Amino acid sequence: MSDTVHVLNGPNLNLLGTREPGIYGAATLADVEALCRAEGAQLGFDIVFRQTNSEGALVDFIQEARGARGIVLNAAAYTHTSVALRDAVSAVGVPTIEVHLSNVFAREAFRHQSFLSPVARGVICGFGPQSYVLGLRAIASLPPSS
Ligand code: DQA
Repeated sequence: MSDTVHVLNGPNLNLLGTREPGIYGAATLADVEALCRAEGAQLGFDIVFRQTNSEGALVDFIQEARGARGIVLNAAAYTHTSVALRDAVSAVGVPTIEVHLSNVFAREAFRHQSFLSPVARGVICGFGPQSYVLGLRAIASLPPSS
């Protein structure tokens, strides 16, 4: 079984640290990446960490994760809009944990809808950068075939 886990980030997450810090906190995306790499080392995962502002590029990133142990996916706003991302997650058949920094259910109604949750292995939100750590631990906890 592959030990590679792809941590994929969607639009505007490159602005973490300065973007609405009251909602998303002070950590930068580089801080989140360092956290994921540290946790990945503990769990024995090779981490591929990527961010894009483009929906099509995120589809490509998901396709490129085919054969990986898992995907931790913060698709950001595309979570709430993208059939293409949902289809990509379904197509690759890699256990995918949907994560969000904020508790999307405590926010605007349009954030309560996710095209990804029905095809994700599970969903973690509301724990800031720890949502990613919990996502990695969730992948580690899965039996090999799930
Ligand atoms: C987010 C929540 C989304 O609703 C929002 O569009 C984002 C970030 C989060 O991590 O809390 O860009 O995915």
